[in-house]
Amino acid sequence: MSHVVGIDLGTTHSLVAALDGAGRPNLLTNRLGQRLTPSVVGLDAEGRLHVGESARAQLLVHPERTIAEVKRRMGRDLPVTLGDRRYSPTEISALILRALREDAERALGGTVTEAVVTVPAYFSDAQRQATKDAGELAGLKVERLLNEPTAAALAYGVNHLDAEQYVLVYDLGGGTFDVSVLEMFQGVLDVKASAGNNQLGGSDFDQALAAWLGAEFERRHGVSLAGNLAAQVRLKAAAEAAKIALTSVDATPVIVPFLAAGRGGTPASLEVEVTRARFEALISDLVRSTLEPMESALRDAKLSKKSIAEVVLVGGSSRVPLVRQLVAEYFGREPREGVHPDEAIALGAALQAGLKTGAVSAAHGIMITDVCPFTLGVEVQASVGRERVGGVFSPLIPRNTTVPVSRTETFATTADGQRAVEIRVFQGEARLVKDNLLLDAYTVEGVPPGRAGTEKVAVTFTYDINGILDVTTRVVSTGKEATLVVDKRSQRLGPEQRLEAKERLAREWGATPGATMSAPVPVATPASSDADADALLTAATERIATAPASVRPRLESLCNALREARTKGDRAAAARLDAELTDLLFDLG
Ligand SMILES: Nc1ncnc2c1ncn2[C@@H]1O[C@H](COP(=O)(O)OP(=O)(O)OP(=O)(O)O)[C@@H](O)[C@H]1O
Ligand SMILES: [Mg+2]
Repeated sequence: MSHVVGIDLGTTHSLVAALDGAGRPNLLTNRLGQRLTPSVVGLDAEGRLHVGESARAQLLVHPERTIAEVKRRMGRDLPVTLGDRRYSPTEISALILRALREDAERALGGTVTEAVVTVPAYFSDAQRQATKDAGELAGLKVERLLNEPTAAALAYGVNHLDAEQYVLVYDLGGGTFDVSVLEMFQGVLDVKASAGNNQLGGSDFDQALAAWLGAEFERRHGVSLAGNLAAQVRLKAAAEAAKIALTSVDATPVIVPFLAAGRGGTPASLEVEVTRARFEALISDLVRSTLEPMESALRDAKLSKKSIAEVVLVGGSSRVPLVRQLVAEYFGREPREGVHPDEAIALGAALQAGLKTGAVSAAHGIMITDVCPFTLGVEVQASVGRERVGGVFSPLIPRNTTVPVSRTETFATTADGQRAVEIRVFQGEARLVKDNLLLDAYTVEGVPPGRAGTEKVAVTFTYDINGILDVTTRVVSTGKEATLVVDKRSQRLGPEQRLEAKERLAREWGATPGATMSAPVPVATPASSDADADALLTAATERIATAPASVRPRLESLCNALREARTKGDRAAAARLDAELTDLLFDLG
């Protein structure tokens, strides 16, 4: 028997759920009996691939052949080096999905060929396409991409079918923050608005605490840890553990033995007590910054915070007491404990899978709508007095429009004898395209020559329920669907390349039976991150031209600094700049 599962493919952890015989969603456990599988892939000294716990175990000792948080790289052409092998971020995600699929098949005792996979509401088109492709490479048809807060709302809604109310889902995970406002009535969940921040999650809390711990170490031992990559990695891990402890206790010791050489060259340890009050002071601004997207979503939904009947908290970082306190203060009441913060998204994905097969609506009578969380449009010229100025953003699909949606606009030629029209597609809320995100560019050819303004091209945007945008164009006078020349920015593989990649991954994976079980083998291999850094620099340099003006200087200076650090052979600085640049590129989408 073949099953359809729901997969929460998270930045730090992934989960799989499926419906039971009664149409109820249940989490599946992996081969280790755990519900959460770390989203980490590693290559061991024997050339075997590992996914999950054993890959995470080797992260601190063999970062050069281990990759974590690949979700932050999805949709871009930044190869990942694992020892002597190179993978695309899509392929790494495919390896995670393949391991999840095999574990699900073991748990269900049948084959799994289709899945609903969740993505952050704020994922761009390229990031969604890459997620879909990863599924295909893993031998899974991605039946549907579902926005994470929408999935959580489904998991909540299925237990509150009689409710007629407005609900706000607050989803703070490891790397992303999403908020959605929904209306519930008679089993219909109608998403009114989504907003979020792609740069905010629990790992930023870890970073803030790690910086403070580093300063404490320096104060006590007179030695700075800046540029000491090994120490920074250990500090961050210690910070995360302390953060989690502070969710349940008021103070916790943080002890990192032999963190770095002290003043006299002798090994020095970090030994300090962190109170919850101290931690809260460090993250207070970060937590506060979640208010803005909440207000924006409420504004777009045309609702006041008073009209929200329930606040549903999801994502591991929503456990932080300060987060709960801030949300409670904002709404003037305690948030809802109605769903499990780690599990709701995968359960919702399984429900969505059931909606597709018909298993759910029969049992529960539930349905859900969603929105496009950002504005989509094209670049046009506009008249300002007698002047024509370029670079103006013309929206076709305003943010928070219910999906699926299709909109057509007609644009005229701007020059005499013009034979081709360039269509540049952007996402964002700014009036000028330079401040928005360029998604793709197409050249429409075959426009009959004429006076400026006489020939027209109709552009149609179709945004589907998966959040994937399709652009078609038609030359109005000839009625011809124009040729779309897809720009090189589209990093997707062609059908043949996909087949090749799928077979290669299956081969490499097949050489590793029981990959998630085997223990890591602690043998060092030399770091070979030069190719990674080259690819990063190429991608970043190309991005400078199209980046919003506000971030261009920072992008440029990071590229220069990284080049310089590599020339000087300063590996620690290069690693730090590499991480900063990767983050910036990720945020740019
Ligand atoms: N008890 C806890 N207290 C505080 N933080 C916690 C606790 N448990 C987990 N976290 C944090 O939650 C984060 C992981 O949350 P989650 O598993 O929801 O994220 P994810 O799904 O991997 O990421 P994303 O949804 O952003 O892609 C980590 O930063 C982790 O440190
Ligand atoms: Mg998540």
